Amino acid sequence: MKRLFLLTVVFVVVLAMVGCGAAPPAAQSEPAQAEQPAAKAAQTYKDLTVGFIQTGSEGGWRAANTASFKETAEQLGINLKFYDAQNKLENQVSAFHQFNQDKDVNVIILAALETTGWEEVLKEAKDAGKIVVLEDRRIDAPEDLYATYIGSDFAEEGRKSAVEMCKLLEGSETKNVVELVGNVGSSAAKDRGQGFREKMGECGITITESQTANWSATEGKQVMEAFLKKSQDIQGVFAQNDEMGLGAAQAISEAGLKPGTDIKILTVDATAGAFKAMIAGDINTVVECNPLLAPQVYEAALKAVNGETLPKWVPSQEGVFYAKDAETILPTRKY
Ligand code: AHR
Repeated sequence: MKRLFLLTVVFVVVLAMVGCGAAPPAAQSEPAQAEQPAAKAAQTYKDLTVGFIQTGSEGGWRAANTASFKETAEQLGINLKFYDAQNKLENQVSAFHQFNQDKDVNVIILAALETTGWEEVLKEAKDAGKIVVLEDRRIDAPEDLYATYIGSDFAEEGRKSAVEMCKLLEGSETKNVVELVGNVGSSAAKDRGQGFREKMGECGITITESQTANWSATEGKQVMEAFLKKSQDIQGVFAQNDEMGLGAAQAISEAGLKPGTDIKILTVDATAGAFKAMIAGDINTVVECNPLLAPQVYEAALKAVNGETLPKWVPSQEGVFYAKDAETILPTRKY
């Protein structure tokens, strides 16, 4: 009886322990360590293979921009696959497709000829895990499709141009200005034109003619010749880049007028060519547009590759230069 009673007590106690979910006895061996994923080493410049899609080689600004990317890639040990699209949009788009398919390329840098038409290749790049950085030119596309845009505030360049043109035309009875436009679909041309128009009313400037000369000196000269044939009642030229302004200066000379005196000339870029023309008195004022963007762009690309979120636009700092200072400043210029 006593034995039966003891067995019953043990049985009841065991049942109670199981029912209450009592903790199992402590394990004798060390608990297994949870497996930690190995920390991913940060990528360096040497891990970057960059597909760079350049617009073309339309002038001094572009040459400086290209040189900046090639030289800096070499200094940093970046593997650069450089593509010159020869100013053809279709070439840029097909190069983009190719870089998307290129297994070695982890970063694509684009200097877009036009603001529109990029969504398809950008989505393809996202699916392929590429980091896209825009340099020089902004585009119209959803911001989640690229890491960042590093380039000038072209609208501000246009506003500064109008303010400076107002100074040049101070005291002039009429303020008729002709505009030489870059390639019309580009952000540089659109935004500079818009910025200029925002401010020109402040001193009564009228744009009497506006036409593209595709960033080229030859076309700038031809377009200016045509303007002068229609009317010589022109007080100022707003050339959206130096080359077109240099071409316009030539056309003005050949028409028997003095560029910089009879017709004031303002250009954008600040290449050495424009500084020399300022020293010669042919160009009056130059608004700077900085092409030496590579160090900033590569740094941003590396950050993005390492998972950092970047601001969607990093504008460059730019100044204005006057003919009176050109001789002193020219030796310090890098392009
Ligand atoms: O996008 C910058 C512009 O492109 C420069 O002002 C012009 O010279 C270049 O071709």
